[in-house]
Amino acid sequence: MTVADGETRSDKSGTAAVGVAADRDRVAVRLLKSSAEKFFDPIVDVDWDAPFEEGKVWLPEHRTSLYGTTLWETLTPEQRVELGKQELAGILSFAIYAECWVGLMFLRSVTEGGLIDKRSQYALTETAEEARHSIMFARLLSKMGVEHYRQPKWRLYLMRFISFVPLGPFSYGSVMLIEEILDRAQRESMNDPDIQPHVRQMMRLHVMEEARHIAFARDEVRRGMESRGRFRRAPHRLCLAFLALLVFPLLVPGSVYKSVGIGPLRGMRAARRGPHYKANIQYYCEPMARFFVDVGMYEGFLAKKLWRMSKGLPDDLV
Ligand SMILES: [Fe+2]
Ligand SMILES: [Fe+2]
Repeated sequence: MTVADGETRSDKSGTAAVGVAADRDRVAVRLLKSSAEKFFDPIVDVDWDAPFEEGKVWLPEHRTSLYGTTLWETLTPEQRVELGKQELAGILSFAIYAECWVGLMFLRSVTEGGLIDKRSQYALTETAEEARHSIMFARLLSKMGVEHYRQPKWRLYLMRFISFVPLGPFSYGSVMLIEEILDRAQRESMNDPDIQPHVRQMMRLHVMEEARHIAFARDEVRRGMESRGRFRRAPHRLCLAFLALLVFPLLVPGSVYKSVGIGPLRGMRAARRGPHYKANIQYYCEPMARFFVDVGMYEGFLAKKLWRMSKGLPDDLV
């Protein structure tokens, strides 16, 4: 290889790197513009003074964890509404933990990344949006008059550990796991007239801003996977598949069942064995699972096995 050849190749790779950085910047600029045009304030954009409406529910019945089980048949209509309320409280509590963790990741991406470039500016914008979302969830929980659900210690340790792994497709894929599941659930319910109006408004506002977050995380996962070879992709897809296995059971804490006189273990077992458990998870996961397959996250024996165990893959992909 001549010096001239070497210079040419180095010039080419330098040009490609500049092209990738410019393209990432373009995505960040587009999302920054959208953030400036479409945003909300949780303090004024939800009518917190209005009372809850009689006869409305908190979650769609068919997405309540015990729906379709024999335990569900033993519950009175009031207990079914109460269980939906407690499950919503569990999901909102989990969402606050998850969004704080997403904020930590984005702050790290600023200090470890370009600091003042457009991508960092967007990461800071998204962190601020997640903080507003958590304030909205906290306000809703307070207004509902229910206790929040704390995550057990081992899950907090796991979140702490994940917070320090190198940023890459696994970290942004983890962000997607949280955001896309919530987004899919909220899009289904936000226009349902049977749901409490405060809950519907919370969902509408959240969906509006999460669309940007999902676009950003997907872009990062795709780029991260494309820029890595087969061996460097493997730990990312293995860790993500393992996390997918844990995320679904985290959404509904076992203690919600105590509110309707059912022991946590009995409730969790019934929900896991219920006729709609798999269909619900597949529904929440479908667009995200297809994206993960497309970018090479669903490859390798172990990762595939973990994904299948999570029950989140649509049947045609399994
Ligand atoms: Fe959010
Ligand atoms: Fe988000």
